[in-house]
Amino acid sequence: MAVQVETSESIELALLLEAIHRRYGFDFRDYSADPLRRRLHRRARAEHVESLSELQGLLLRDPGCMERLLGDLSVNVTAMFRDPSFFAALRRTVVPILRMRRFARIWCAGCSTGEEVYSLAIVLREEGLYDRVRIYATDLNEYALEAAAAGVVPLGRMQEYTDNYIRSGGRREFSAYYVAAYDAARFNRDLIGNVVFAQHNLASDRAFAEFDLIFCRNVLIYFETGLQNRVTELFCDSLRPFGVLGLGSRETIAHSPVAGRFAPLAPRDRIYRKAA
Ligand SMILES: C[S@@+](CC[C@H](N)C(=O)[O-])C[C@H]1O[C@@H](n2cnc3c(N)ncnc32)[C@H](O)[C@@H]1O
Repeated sequence: MAVQVETSESIELALLLEAIHRRYGFDFRDYSADPLRRRLHRRARAEHVESLSELQGLLLRDPGCMERLLGDLSVNVTAMFRDPSFFAALRRTVVPILRMRRFARIWCAGCSTGEEVYSLAIVLREEGLYDRVRIYATDLNEYALEAAAAGVVPLGRMQEYTDNYIRSGGRREFSAYYVAAYDAARFNRDLIGNVVFAQHNLASDRAFAEFDLIFCRNVLIYFETGLQNRVTELFCDSLRPFGVLGLGSRETIAHSPVAGRFAPLAPRDRIYRKAA
């Protein structure tokens, strides 16, 4: 019988991820291997070390190196009203459901630097629902969360954001939601009056409340199938009956073990509703 032999590279990778988990509690063991490996090698080059084993030694001794690696691994790419049709579908299909609730709890998981949270807050304000919700905005990366709470974005992106806002069905002047100064725009503080920012790791932390709506967009794509399945199960357990789940444009619930517990609400925009 042929013995399965691992390459040095895959052993180094597994040991490095194990070391990060044991030393810092961050669990990247079930992330998609190829993008992970590319980012680790990029970090190794930036730290002037030759191999993943050497990077491991450095990481174990230097929390600053872990901080820099976290920045590389957490991929914080985001935008206001990202995929405008998703936000149009939200107004069309989810807002009427939320309107039936006296109070709604919303979880924005993997919110990055907050652009998605401010977008959601704007929709809820325009629909007259903001005062009836509490939004829990979480991410693995605490630096991203600090940026989210500050609500400052480069002014250079405001044209793109304004276009997205209009395409998503926005009803006002987008500029009413922020103040521009020099090369930055700061979103109005009242948009996060009902938002709680907190660190939460989807790979290792548990459910923490029951929600009417969960957003987790463009996060599952970084995970291996096993972790994707665990996370969709976590979302299913965290949603109340008839609660709504919104995923990213390249993500689906269809292949998850909990697929049968959801019905499509706006499937082209990856919005699903949990059954009773
Ligand atoms: C590409 S951004 C998506 C941001 C936003 N949801 C959007 O669609 O624009 C992915 C985010 O997922 C976060 N993330 C990655 N792994 C995570 C985990 N295990 N738990 C929580 N957040 C995680 C990253 O830190 C990053 O901020």
